[in-house]
Amino acid sequence: MQEIPQLKTKLTEMLGIKYPIIQGGMAWIADASLASAVSNAGGLGMIACGNQKPDELRKQIRDCKEKTDKIFGLNVMLMSRYVDDIMQMIEDEKIRVITTGAGNPGKYIPHLKELGVKVIPVAGSVAIAKRVARVGADAVIAEGMESGGHLGEMTTMALVPQVIDAVDIPVIAAGGIGDGRGMAAAFMLGACGVQMGTRFLTAHECTVSRPYKDAILSAKDSSTTVTGSMAGHAIRVIKNKLSRQIQQLEKHGGDPEEIVKLGVGALKRAAYEGDVEFGSVMSGQIAGMVNKEESCREIIEDMMRDTADVFRNRNILMAEDFGKDIQA
Ligand SMILES: Cc1cc2nc3c(=O)[nH]c(=O)nc-3n(C[C@H](O)[C@H](O)[C@H](O)COP(=O)(O)O)c2cc1C
Repeated sequence: MQEIPQLKTKLTEMLGIKYPIIQGGMAWIADASLASAVSNAGGLGMIACGNQKPDELRKQIRDCKEKTDKIFGLNVMLMSRYVDDIMQMIEDEKIRVITTGAGNPGKYIPHLKELGVKVIPVAGSVAIAKRVARVGADAVIAEGMESGGHLGEMTTMALVPQVIDAVDIPVIAAGGIGDGRGMAAAFMLGACGVQMGTRFLTAHECTVSRPYKDAILSAKDSSTTVTGSMAGHAIRVIKNKLSRQIQQLEKHGGDPEEIVKLGVGALKRAAYEGDVEFGSVMSGQIAGMVNKEESCREIIEDMMRDTADVFRNRNILMAEDFGKDIQA
């Protein structure tokens, strides 16, 4: 069997993981099953806290510990009404790494540092990346708007190098990375690892509903769209009846509160109940490339092999190649 290429980066060193791949937190989706499978395969698995009740979250954490003895983390949505309970749970359950979104983790960082917890916020702009670096984040995930879920305005290609120039902590690239070409590109931009969400949606161990998986598997390059920008809650989703309804309202100056209301509970509706017409099927643009179901191990090992192949075989030009006719 072909050996899986290893790659030591600041991310693998910081967390003691084998491969520089983080599975993105995905509310209502990224549970113990997915997180443990990713961690067992050598990446960093994440349980998404979302707005989950503390008791349910604790169950997920305990379940994950049963399923893996490797490091895994929590994705903390800082606007969650349970955020203080989650911070306590991080201490009680000896969680070693968290990613954060929807707010500034600054006030929690001094205590988390005392506990030895690594804090890796998600940033969609240079300003946010600088802010979290200033308050002591250990690394930052620069997430472009190709990604699924909540969005900033920058693309990964433009954002990652600008964040790298602006902060002196390690930078992980996210958004639109679905194979070795994307991962190699992230390294070329200076990132020390990648975070992926969409590709993991069709993993065998991902417990998202069957219709949700099918929607990803049948998606094309142009199957996603952005809703909620006008209400300040932009999300990328697979086009469906709900996205069209929201966009109609947006186009005709609908009440932002009414638009926000349409989105409440919509991800759960698609992810749990399988309603992919009136639910929110969050997905990145990379869905057009995700066309098979695999185990998390197959996904991660394929990413590593493919990235190594890109560096070995393709696109990497020697200095003496410049000025010649290049056959890309
Ligand atoms: C269905 C879905 C739900 C998501 N939910 C969250 C979330 O709860 N918290 C978060 O920080 N990011 C969330 N994200 C973003 C992912 O963690 C990750 O950064 C993103 O998927 C990377 O881009 P990609 O989709 O192109 O791989 C979500 C993404 C998807 C696809």
